[in-house]
Amino acid sequence: MGRFITLEGGEGVGKSTLARGLAATLRARGFEVLATREPGGAPGADAIRALLVQGEPGRWDALEETLLFAAARLNHLRETIRPALARGAWVICDRYTDSTRAYQVAAGGLDAAKLDALNAILRAERPDLTLVLDLDVGEGLARSRGGSAGEDRFERKGADFHARVRAEFLAIAAREPGRCKIVNAAQAPEAVLAQALAFVETLL
Ligand code: TYD
Repeated sequence: MGRFITLEGGEGVGKSTLARGLAATLRARGFEVLATREPGGAPGADAIRALLVQGEPGRWDALEETLLFAAARLNHLRETIRPALARGAWVICDRYTDSTRAYQVAAGGLDAAKLDALNAILRAERPDLTLVLDLDVGEGLARSRGGSAGEDRFERKGADFHARVRAEFLAIAAREPGRCKIVNAAQAPEAVLAQALAFVETLL
């Protein structure tokens, strides 16, 4: 089996830049690396992604959203993540179940037991390592503005929503210190990569 690393954090914290840096570093060391993201990462999941990240912030409630994320996640696991892990690749996934806990449960108000039940139904693999990129909410939202056109449904949910998201990521990391490591995303990209690599090296 390969290794399963997830990158988590709020808007504009630099997960995609870190994913590129980690993938390049691990490939240079001779590992097969699959870099992927949620929602998406497989054709069916990508089609669901458009429903989630586009349109009015209120078009889905927290349970509806969670079920769409769950369908996308199962498709992504089946088509992409599980085959890669089975052939021994390292999988670096930008967002995973902790995002659902932060956005839909903590910020969106979904009952946590519903997410726990869905994770059990999906038999969602537990990451070997989760890097939580932490950054001031205002700075993150400013950085993420001007990202992919039209994919701003969550960015538009307001500062309070995003403050709850950040607080929950920190709470998850505090509850699961073995799996989750906090990375200071206010640093320069090279320093973020160096801090993240120190944690990744513990998996080697
Ligand atoms: P994306 O453009 O990929 O945002 P980012 O670059 O910040 O990762 O859009 C994904 C959005 O979906 C993001 O705002 C977080 C949200 N999301 C959830 O609310 N729940 C989830 O389970 C996942 C995977 C993502």
